[in-house]
Amino acid sequence: MAQALDLIWVVISFLLLINLSSQQETGFIFNGFRQGDLHLDGVAQILPGGLLQLTNTSGQKMGHAFFRQPFEFNSSESLSFSTHFVCAMVRQPGVTGGNGIAFFLSPSMDLSNADATQYLGLFNTTTNRSPSSNIFAVELDTVESAEFDDIDNNHVGINVNSLTSVDSAPASYFSEKEGLNKSISFLSGDSIQVWVDYDGTVLNVRLAPLGIQKPSRNLLSRSINLSQVLQDRMFVGLSAATGQLANNHYILGWSFNRSKASLQSLDISKLPRVPRPKPSYKPPLMLILLLTVLGIILLVILGGAYLYKRNKYAEVREEWEKEYGPHRYSYKSIYKATNGFHRDGFLGKGGFGEVYKGTLPRDQDIAVKRFSHDGERGMKQFVAEIASMGRLDHRNLVPLLGYCRRKGEFLLVSKYMPNGSLDQFLFHNREPSLPWLKRLAILKGIASALHYLHTGATQVVLHRDIKASNVMLDTEFHGKLGDFGMARFHDHGASPTTTGAVGTVGYMAPELTSMGASTKTDVYSFGAFMLEVACGRRPVEPNMRAEKQFLVKWVCDCWRKKATLDARDPKLRGESSSSRSVELVMKLGLLCTNLVPESRPDMEQVVQYLDGLIPLPDFSPDSPGIGILSPVMVVASSSVISNTSAPATESMFMTHSIQYGVGR
Ligand SMILES: *[C@@H]1O[C@H](CO)[C@@H](O)[C@H](O)[C@H]1NC(C)=O
Ligand SMILES: *[C@@H]1O[C@H](CO)[C@@H](O)[C@H](O)[C@H]1NC(C)=O
Ligand SMILES: *[C@@H]1O[C@H](CO)[C@@H](O)[C@H](O)[C@H]1NC(C)=O
Ligand SMILES: *[C@@H]1O[C@H](CO)[C@@H](O)[C@H](O)[C@H]1NC(C)=O
Ligand SMILES: *[C@@H]1O[C@H](CO)[C@@H](O)[C@H](O)[C@H]1NC(C)=O
Ligand SMILES: *[C@@H]1O[C@H](CO)[C@@H](O)[C@H](O)[C@H]1NC(C)=O
Repeated sequence: MAQALDLIWVVISFLLLINLSSQQETGFIFNGFRQGDLHLDGVAQILPGGLLQLTNTSGQKMGHAFFRQPFEFNSSESLSFSTHFVCAMVRQPGVTGGNGIAFFLSPSMDLSNADATQYLGLFNTTTNRSPSSNIFAVELDTVESAEFDDIDNNHVGINVNSLTSVDSAPASYFSEKEGLNKSISFLSGDSIQVWVDYDGTVLNVRLAPLGIQKPSRNLLSRSINLSQVLQDRMFVGLSAATGQLANNHYILGWSFNRSKASLQSLDISKLPRVPRPKPSYKPPLMLILLLTVLGIILLVILGGAYLYKRNKYAEVREEWEKEYGPHRYSYKSIYKATNGFHRDGFLGKGGFGEVYKGTLPRDQDIAVKRFSHDGERGMKQFVAEIASMGRLDHRNLVPLLGYCRRKGEFLLVSKYMPNGSLDQFLFHNREPSLPWLKRLAILKGIASALHYLHTGATQVVLHRDIKASNVMLDTEFHGKLGDFGMARFHDHGASPTTTGAVGTVGYMAPELTSMGASTKTDVYSFGAFMLEVACGRRPVEPNMRAEKQFLVKWVCDCWRKKATLDARDPKLRGESSSSRSVELVMKLGLLCTNLVPESRPDMEQVVQYLDGLIPLPDFSPDSPGIGILSPVMVVASSSVISNTSAPATESMFMTHSIQYGVGR
């Protein structure tokens, strides 16, 4: 019983075994590949899209892909097999490719000792031509190797244990449509279909581009007995190799079956895409030329526009100016503010340049003085002074906002004063005529501003050009001293020993040419200014009668005749109540214009005299230095004098000059 059971068991096992062994592989099909489908070695890999890459463009490399299970080739049965695969050989642009792809049958999956290059990853020097290799292959060869009797560098060959093909033909296919052979270029990068069919006696190979039916005619057809080559178990594989020349070797899909009739056809729509290197597009020469010329023209136009704009707004900027940053205006902003220095904004022409009204973006009205300068000498010091003046803060100073520098041009930006300058009201009968109390208030304001400049700031600031036309009036007719430092500016070019010998005739202290500017020369100018405010005329009037021409002398003469008030502004005659203070201002004017600098009061004292805090010192028209005109050469009153005038100015200076000596 037990024996019977044992027998049954053995029979069942035997049947199972037979059944199992008969479950051998008959074929496979891959429409694109997944990791794990195949056994890969060398540089072969499956790319993300399902593309099998046997090699890339690295040289001297090989790659194999095997179906994992071997196939039984039993001599007693049929040795037939059929395969269909799609491959592509993609070069880098401008580079020749190599070496090729082979479909093969091998008794082993270990081809690691095979060589790359012309050995196609199938043989080495030892195994090539060796009957014991047992390798059958169909090669798609892209390099012509003389040692293997290759026919060309684009052929298909049948190889048995050797790289010297049993049969080979240049790659081509029979086009059914056109009824003729059409050549195929392996290295075109196009996908190519390959069919290999063996029925046990004849081996057929056909090619066709992707998308074309299997041709009815063979490219190669060869009677061949593979019984000695094919072992009992054979592995099916694809191989590719690169050498000096290299390209990407891709497999898109692969189908295999022992029986030609049962071979499943590949589904072309499921095959992965082959990456194609971007073709380097070479535009026609004419197009390149045309584009180049157009580009150059465009560049010239743009460059011209840029240069024009840059020149229009060009400025001179130097490293040292960085520290004055906030006071530095861009020329562009000033140009825009003054509407391109339009005549509508023209305020007047002063001794140093033209003045324009402007409006900055935030409705801030500005006055821009624009004047030329030559040379850079002293510029740094001047700008430093301007910047330090920007920090000066006194209600009787015109607020200086900043500056801008261009080549040969300098621009000073200050707050716009709506009522213009005092001289308009004093000498040009501009309405309203200013009553004495207003004039006195202006004098007091300017005196206090000058006192501030001399003592209140961190360093002594000299104004150098005090006169009615430099006193600006705001909406309430408060006087504000403007244009400070201007005389200094015009001084550039003068030799260092004669600095400051600049100013306006009639306001210039006699020692100016010899000793230079000081607070005392400012006091002298302020004295002359007080006299012109009280008398309503300029210090020097060449067109008047001789005894009246020089204000200082004339006021002194009137005082000596005990008729000081005769010299006062005729427009003030109606204001008899103010006589005393007019007289005080006139005498203070004489005191300040004393020939001897040391005899002049300082600005602090002047302020106190004007405020009536201290009485005037005891002096008379005959006191030393009072009412005396010094030997200064004078130009017509409106001009500015400088001892470094250009020759042209000098000739004018000679004809108009009046020389007068010490005397009463
Ligand atoms: C291979 O052919 C056999 C018949 O010989 C068939 O049964 C089988 O499905 C085929 N396999 C593939 C993967 O084509
Ligand atoms: C080719 O593949 C190998 C290994 O995958 C890699 O090291 C090499 O850089 C690749 N060469 C190119 C040109 O991509
Ligand atoms: C292969 O052939 C041998 C004899 O040559 C035989 O013993 C064996 O059973 C065969 N195998 C198959 C699977 O047919
Ligand atoms: C060639 O390959 C065989 C087996 O793969 C190996 O034994 C032999 O050493 C190789 N010859 C050379 C020259 O690499
Ligand atoms: C086409 O190619 C085949 C195989 O190489 C050849 O036998 C045949 O003569 C060729 N036909 C023509 C028309 O060239
Ligand atoms: C192939 O060759 C073997 C011996 O080498 C022989 O037995 C067999 O009959 C041959 N097959 C054909 C189809 O000629």
